[in-house]
Amino acid sequence: MKDIQIKKIDSDKAPLELLLLADPSREAIGRYLKKGNCFAAYRGNDVVGMYVAILRNPSVAEIINIAVAENHQNKGIGKLLVSDAIKRMKKTSVKRLLVGTGNSSISQLAFYQKCGFRIARIKKDYFIKNYKKAIYENGIQCRDMIMLELAILD
Ligand code: COA
Repeated sequence: MKDIQIKKIDSDKAPLELLLLADPSREAIGRYLKKGNCFAAYRGNDVVGMYVAILRNPSVAEIINIAVAENHQNKGIGKLLVSDAIKRMKKTSVKRLLVGTGNSSISQLAFYQKCGFRIARIKKDYFIKNYKKAIYENGIQCRDMIMLELAILD
């Protein structure tokens, strides 16, 4: 992992193919890229992962998109991206870091809990109300947004 460097990049340079791995809606991506800060993981000159973080209020931030290139998954880069977000939040007034994922996103629910997040609440019917097309994963319709939370300790 020593060969991975995580740097802040301009939102307009955010890699769309990675953003789309985590979120099928180009419309939603466009909206939150305007408000968020984007960080990219580089191996040499290649972007192998990225996340977008948004400040909800001075003490609450949310990772609104996180993705690792398919051929680099399951090598610890996702966990490194979450650790980077936590490290950066520790230098700010942020006390709680949120992430949201669909009820059908079984792998992502495992990943976030392995990163230390705990389920905090459920936004019922979020994907039905906010996405034009029905989303299915693992044979399950994605209806509800599961919000997970991690405390940023000093
Ligand atoms: N099932 C169970 N555990 C999983 C998992 C899965 N499908 N995927 C990752 N994990 C676990 C790993 O085993 C590891 O556990 P450990 O700490 O006990 O070793 C931990 O999560 C960290 O894994 P890591 O290798 O850092 O994950 P990654 O680099 O593959 O990144 C994602 C994880 C989710 C960012 C990546 O798979 C991805 O980009 N997916 C597509 C985009 C996406 O779905 N983004 C999230 C939208 S909500």
